[in-house]
Amino acid sequence: MEERQGRRIVLFPSPFQGHIRPMVQLGNLLHTRGFSITIVHTTFNSPDPFLYPHFTFHFLHENISSQSQTDIIAFLKVLNTNCVQPLTDCLTRLISDDHEYPISCLISDAGLTFTGKVANQLKLPRLVLRTGGATSLSVFAAFPFLREKGYLPIQESRLEEQVPEFPHLKVKDLPVIKTTNPEDLFELVNGMIDGTKSSAGVIFNTFQELEDPAIAAISQHFQVPIFPIGPFHKLLPAKPPTQPDQTAAIDWLDKQAPSSVIYVSFGTLAAINEQDFVEIAWGLANSKQPFLWVVRPGLVNGLDWLDLLPDGLIEDLKERGLIVKWAPQLQVLAHPSIAVFWTHNGWNSTLESICEGVPMICMPFFTDQKVNARYARDVWRVGLGFESVKLIEREEIERVIRRAMVGEEGKEIRKRVLEWKEMARVCLGENKGSSFQSLERLVSHILSI
Ligand code: UDX
Repeated sequence: MEERQGRRIVLFPSPFQGHIRPMVQLGNLLHTRGFSITIVHTTFNSPDPFLYPHFTFHFLHENISSQSQTDIIAFLKVLNTNCVQPLTDCLTRLISDDHEYPISCLISDAGLTFTGKVANQLKLPRLVLRTGGATSLSVFAAFPFLREKGYLPIQESRLEEQVPEFPHLKVKDLPVIKTTNPEDLFELVNGMIDGTKSSAGVIFNTFQELEDPAIAAISQHFQVPIFPIGPFHKLLPAKPPTQPDQTAAIDWLDKQAPSSVIYVSFGTLAAINEQDFVEIAWGLANSKQPFLWVVRPGLVNGLDWLDLLPDGLIEDLKERGLIVKWAPQLQVLAHPSIAVFWTHNGWNSTLESICEGVPMICMPFFTDQKVNARYARDVWRVGLGFESVKLIEREEIERVIRRAMVGEEGKEIRKRVLEWKEMARVCLGENKGSSFQSLERLVSHILSI
């Protein structure tokens, strides 16, 4: 520990919850390994520095708060443009300040495509944190090829076609997202892949056993050191929730029977239309199972929370379930009353579900979520899904819930996810675990820079 002190690492997360959380977890991990941690963050969506007194914070005045986030790709384009100068200025100041520790490296989110150039100009080594999975990254890396072969941009008529180069994926599973200018998506993905290939190493919040083939392919094609050191959150002490609305969810779960509750949450960015929202509500009500449903403000395009649902249905829902605006997901998934997680398959949610041995009902919305969902269903075989890519219908919801809760399939996916949970535990084991070893390598790598 002693010999590792005296080095400072600068972390720069992408300013979205699903990216900030793993970056902060990585910061905590590296801090426990003796590094001093500085977080550079946009003013937009910034975490509260008082929650992390062991980190030093610097904020960029990047002027993006007024930018609409409905089109995530357009938003990222502006972010990747507006942050160039503020980040350059900030890092220049940090490099030349009289902090007692010199900066070893910058670790920036893979999606912040401009950070490679900035770091190069300042001669600052840069590692990349890929907050999503390795498998989806390997699909992103194949985008030029998939375009050449005509799989991208996706054509309606080819949705059900298998992609031979990725035997588990159909065209409908390719990690795209709607955006005003589709070229922006390709540009962003190219920037992410080029910036990752030219980095001093890639850190993944995954474990070797889960994504072995993709990790091997990336090692071979990217030619940079690879560090799969996840699941990050399992390497850190769990923090019990303290805010009243969050403890309420746990108090409610305490009153439910073991393995009886469906937990429903679609992450921090996905939005659904009014019709789908109403169908989900009916599907849950008709399933007659207890449920905990996160209806995040903003989940339903432009509408405030439960406004849409008829009073009778709300009463019906409240009899059997609890609807909250935010849940302490890590504690929820670890709770013995949880039976199934109906998820959008953001990478964090997918990994967290696997780590707690909770089978999934997969309903991806966009980008990597589609790849994660397909792998959860067909490769790791820990999830069930909906067949339709467009319509969510209450009858199908009921059917899928029944298959997951009471059917033979449900039993099988439960058994398998418990096997994965065990593998996730073993990979963290001191000395022999694959993630433990990767973390040791990462620490030595940073120290050698
Ligand atoms: C985004 C992208 O959409 C996704 O494709 C990418 O993999 C990561 O970033 P997001 O919607 O944020 O995903 O979902 P996810 O990756 O699952 O992260 C959400 C995080 O918020 C999880 O760590 C989850 O535990 C937490 N969360 C979410 C809560 O703690 N409570 C909630 O109520 C909802």
